Amino acid sequence: MSPAPVLVTRRLPPKPMRVIGDRCDADVWEGPPEAIPRDELLRRIARKEGAVTLLTERVDAELLDAAGPQLRIVANYAVGFDNIDVEECTRRGVLATNTPDVLTDTTADLAWALLMASARRVAEGDRFLRSKTTWIWGPEMMLGQDVHDATLGVVGFGRIGQAVARRGRGFGMRIVYFDPYRPPEKVERDLGAEYLEFDDLLAQADFISIHVALTPETRHLFGAEQFRTMKPTAVIVNTARGPVIDEAALADALKSGEIFGAGLDVFEREPEVHPDLLDLENAVVVPHLGSATVATRDAMGMLAAENLFAGLEGRRPPSLLNPEALDNRSDR
Ligand code: DGY
Repeated sequence: MSPAPVLVTRRLPPKPMRVIGDRCDADVWEGPPEAIPRDELLRRIARKEGAVTLLTERVDAELLDAAGPQLRIVANYAVGFDNIDVEECTRRGVLATNTPDVLTDTTADLAWALLMASARRVAEGDRFLRSKTTWIWGPEMMLGQDVHDATLGVVGFGRIGQAVARRGRGFGMRIVYFDPYRPPEKVERDLGAEYLEFDDLLAQADFISIHVALTPETRHLFGAEQFRTMKPTAVIVNTARGPVIDEAALADALKSGEIFGAGLDVFEREPEVHPDLLDLENAVVVPHLGSATVATRDAMGMLAAENLFAGLEGRRPPSLLNPEALDNRSDR
C-alpha cells in the first residue's frame, strides 16, 4: 500500500518529523517564520488523508471542503484546540486530536517563571542594568511583592492549573481556584486547594494564573471590571490563550496601578502585542513559550504523530477529541 498523503503545516522537531516522513507521504510547509498562508493551506490540503496542524491554522468548514472527503484526521500540535471547529469535523467524520499531558509541567514551569519575574521585577531589573544607568543599592529600589505565603488564585483547574497549584504549595501559598467544573474532592485535598466563586477569587488572590480554554464564555473573562476588583498589589499571569484577557483594559490597569504586574505568554491578537504593553515596565512578555522546551516539543510531536497514524490506519487515536466522529466515518 502506498504511504498516505499528509500535510504538515510547519516543520516539527527532527524526531517526530522523521517518524512521520518514514510512514507517510508528507508535504511539509517550510516557510517559517510565517504561518502557512491561508490560500496555500487550502491548496495543499486538497486530497490529503491526514494533517498535522498548529494553533495558527484555522480548521473549519472551508478547510474541510478544500481537503475533500478522504481526509480522516486532523492532529493538532497543541493541547489547545480553539483553532479547530470540532463540531464540523465530527459532522464529517474527521477525527480531531490534541497533545494533552506531555506539556503540562513544562507550561506550569513557564507560568511560574512569569509569576516570579513579574512579582520580583526580574525583566525590568535586567533591562535597567543593560541601560547602563548609574545605580547604587537602596532600601526602596525596585521593590516587588512576596510570592511565598501569598494567595495563589488559579482560574481553570485542569491539568496545567493543578500543576501550577502544586508549585504554589512549595512556596507555602494558600491555593484558591475557580472552575465551573469542580474536580474530585481528592484533588482539592491533595493540593490543599479551596474553591472560590470567581469574584471572590479576584478580590482575595495576590497572584492569578489563567488556565482556561478559549471559548465564547472565556473570551474577555478578564476586563476593566475584573482588574478593578483585584488587589492593587496583584499580579496576573496568562499562559492559556490571549483573548481571555481584554489587552487594552489590562494595559490601562497596569498603567494606573490598579494591579501590580502581568506576566504574559499569549496575546489577544497574536503575534501582535498591544503596543502599550510593550511600553510598560510592569508587563513581562514572552512569545508563546509555554511548551517550548526541547523534550516537550519532541513529545508533542511524537504524540501528534501517534494520533495521525492511528487516524490514518482506522484505529482510535490516543488523544481523540471527538469520539462521535468515529460513527460518522464513511469507511466504518
Ligand atoms: C498549546 O499546546 O495549546 C500551547 O499553546 C502551545 O504549546
